[in-house]
Amino acid sequence: MCDNAPKPFVKWAGGKRQLINTLLDNIPSSFSNYHEPFVGGGALYFRLWNEGLIKKAYLNDFNEHLYNTYRVIKKNPDELIEELTSSQYKNEKTIYYKLRDKYNQKRYRDNTERAALFMYFNKTGFNGLWRVNSKDGYNVPIGKYKNPKICDEDNIRLVSEALKKAELTNRDFSTVLDNAKTKDFVYFDPPYHPLSSTSNFTTYTKLDFTEKDQIRLKEVYVALDLKKVNVMLSNSPAPLITQLYSNYKQKLVDAKRMINCKSELRGNVSEIVAINY
Ligand SMILES: C[S@@+](CC[C@H](N)C(=O)[O-])C[C@H]1O[C@@H](n2cnc3c(N)ncnc32)[C@H](O)[C@@H]1O
Repeated sequence: MCDNAPKPFVKWAGGKRQLINTLLDNIPSSFSNYHEPFVGGGALYFRLWNEGLIKKAYLNDFNEHLYNTYRVIKKNPDELIEELTSSQYKNEKTIYYKLRDKYNQKRYRDNTERAALFMYFNKTGFNGLWRVNSKDGYNVPIGKYKNPKICDEDNIRLVSEALKKAELTNRDFSTVLDNAKTKDFVYFDPPYHPLSSTSNFTTYTKLDFTEKDQIRLKEVYVALDLKKVNVMLSNSPAPLITQLYSNYKQKLVDAKRMINCKSELRGNVSEIVAINY
């Protein structure tokens, strides 16, 4: 791995940075195209790209705010850097709340400014958490960061380069895998199924990810397995998940979870990795 490796440009709940080496130990020995239908911060994608393992990739996430930022970084990194280094983006309370209103009222000039605001909130908002209300309005208060790096210019350029091999979409996971073929590799990292009814953060988008969605996902997993696509899935070790994937190889791995809306849920947790190869 070289030093100037691209890394996730956002902190993201469920981000896989802490688990990356374990995931790498479990990828298929070779594969054609790569698909990540719940890409989030994209930790595994950027690592695979840096290892030279990506030929072509299909990255998807249902969060439209995040998707817009991916698109802008891919197409217009210079404009985004220029915007983020302008005087608007200060880590100050009154400015933060003014910009939050501007964002929620869609008063940004264009998608570049929208992406810059999204990145600014991620660096200055409480815990770097993206949370929206039922109207998709961003409602996170300002965080307590002293001197956040609002614009990481080098990383934006590296990420933009890494995204040249990726097609980006913003759909439900069940609609993006028609082009997955034998020998491709699909990595699913869905919102975690809660271990108990109060324990988890699953609100990445205005729609919750429910038990029904976990069951829908299992059906997609099985269809891919029948097509001899390599599939890896990570999730919480909740009984529903271990049962759904009981026909596949499961490994229990340790992960450090940095972002959770409940502080007692940060720290070490176990995850299940289910593979079909
Ligand atoms: C656990 S996170 C992925 C974390 C990612 N692997 C990382 O390293 O940052 C789950 C992602 O699924 C997305 N998501 C939620 N519901 C979805 C759906 N129905 N289809 C596709 N993506 C969805 C969320 O927006 C979130 O980014």
